[in-house]
Amino acid sequence: MLRVVLLLLTGTLAAGSAQPGSKNTTKPNILFIVADDLGWNDVGWHNPDVKTPVLDQLAQEGVILDQSYVNYVCTPSRTAFMTGYFPYHVGTQHLVIFPWQASAVPSNFTFLPEKLKGLGYATHMVGKWHLGMCNWKYTPTYRGFDSFYGYYNGAEDYYTHVVATGLDLRDDKEVVKTKNGQYGTYFFTDRVVDIVEKHPADTPLFLYLPFQNVHQPLQVPKRFEDIYATVQNENRRTLLGMVSAMDEAVGNVTMAMKNAGLWDNTLVIFTTDNGGWIAASGNNFPLRGGKTTLWEGGTRGVAFAHGKMLQKTGYTNNEMIHAVDWFPTILAAAGGTADAGIDGVSQLDTIMSGKPSPRTEFVYNIDDVSTSKQGAIRVGDYKLIEGFAGTPDGWIRPDNLTDSPADSEDPANGTWLFNLKDDPTEHHNLADTMPDKLKEMQAKLAEYRKSLVPAINPPPDPKSNPQDWGGAWSPGWC
Ligand SMILES: *[C@@H]1O[C@H](CO)[C@@H](O)[C@H](O)[C@H]1NC(C)=O
Ligand SMILES: *[C@@H]1O[C@H](CO)[C@@H](O)[C@H](O)[C@H]1NC(C)=O
Ligand SMILES: *[C@@H]1O[C@H](CO)[C@@H](O)[C@H](O)[C@H]1NC(C)=O
Ligand SMILES: *[C@@H]1O[C@H](CO)[C@@H](O)[C@H](O)[C@H]1NC(C)=O
Ligand SMILES: *[C@@H]1O[C@H](CO)[C@@H](O)[C@H](O)[C@H]1NC(C)=O
Repeated sequence: MLRVVLLLLTGTLAAGSAQPGSKNTTKPNILFIVADDLGWNDVGWHNPDVKTPVLDQLAQEGVILDQSYVNYVCTPSRTAFMTGYFPYHVGTQHLVIFPWQASAVPSNFTFLPEKLKGLGYATHMVGKWHLGMCNWKYTPTYRGFDSFYGYYNGAEDYYTHVVATGLDLRDDKEVVKTKNGQYGTYFFTDRVVDIVEKHPADTPLFLYLPFQNVHQPLQVPKRFEDIYATVQNENRRTLLGMVSAMDEAVGNVTMAMKNAGLWDNTLVIFTTDNGGWIAASGNNFPLRGGKTTLWEGGTRGVAFAHGKMLQKTGYTNNEMIHAVDWFPTILAAAGGTADAGIDGVSQLDTIMSGKPSPRTEFVYNIDDVSTSKQGAIRVGDYKLIEGFAGTPDGWIRPDNLTDSPADSEDPANGTWLFNLKDDPTEHHNLADTMPDKLKEMQAKLAEYRKSLVPAINPPPDPKSNPQDWGGAWSPGWC
């Protein structure tokens, strides 16, 4: 026992005293947490009505990242996290992969856990995939994860684990049929704790936790809803309960990592995948719009970094970060480098010591599918949206009261130019008053558009029918 304690102490000191860039044998463990549909106004550090004590503490002890951008919906953001490429360079820019679509991130893209395995990491994933499952080669354990416990599609019932007409719950490749009636967040967390307890301390650990919370359906055990007894609207009360359930789950995971002696050498990256979903009572006030839109409410995500290796902590960082950057950032933290040509840039110095971001521009999305033809970019302080910005529009408060839209006459198919430094809530469209800046931004967008890869968006495939696969959504039909 004493020997173990001494080893732990030595390990901690070695990790703590190493300077970045200096030789150290203790690669950090990496805990990459992705919340689903968590809104800007749905975390305690942005809104004191939301009870997230665990996440608040981690965010405040670490670095709050308040200019950390994500894509407008799940599949594109997860593409960015796992590949380091903008979804419009992959073909996953149009909405999400539906269970019945023969669609996936193409096999020639190397996923983050594959790269980390090459650096000696054990790689585990618990939660939601949503990057394709019609063929085994697209599923987590074929794309670099040593183990996978979770579901392949975008959402499901938290108790039956059914989406549409099929069960979607797997332990590695095996369908799990024994969890009907159990709230997913509980047994997913138990699995994470189990992984942590069994993990050999001499191997660096990469743990990818894409939570089910707080995606709809709105379901949560009553004790979490009871935290918000004063919230009148039932849907909002449930949504907030789901946020607090996730908070407790993160607390259990951090506790397990502390007990296992892994915590002091763990770098935590926490991010949402997109803004809160207004239709499911998520909230992004004071930002405009929400999930499924290119407005800031859909794309400026909640995020923070935490870890003893961070050199500057306890502040809010406003450097420009995009979802594609986590791939090279995590690789850099692991002592590796990403392949040349990816869209992401390493933000390790930004999160470690607050250095200026190497990024000055990014693509919110480019999509040519006629029903939602759109393009949006950020260059410096300016943002251009052309085409379909997405709905709902407006500045929606948690009680659903909408501030009167400043430019409610704008069509769904329009041209918007904003200076986000002066106007982070997108109240003042400058498209008419700054024609030269508009032309410059349009030229830039046209340049980006040249490298657009057509969206992978096939019609429903009847071969996907779970009835032909023992009742579960299963790989093997594409
Ligand atoms: C993957 O293949 C597609 C189609 O050939 C190509 O456009 C793309 O650049 C490739 N991407 C990578 C990362 O190899
Ligand atoms: C967290 O751990 C406690 C104590 O084991 C347990 O009662 C609770 O259900 C766990 N919560 C979650 C969300 O897993
Ligand atoms: C807000 O409106 C949506 C429908 O757009 C509804 O689902 C939700 O429950 C409402 N939330 C509140 C807090 O009234
Ligand atoms: C260990 O070295 C790597 C580079 O090889 C560095 O990225 C990492 O931050 C260092 N870890 C600690 C805890 O200093
Ligand atoms: C959007 O407007 C442009 C012209 O302003 C038009 O050419 C295009 O067809 C419109 N697209 C949609 C989806 O309505």
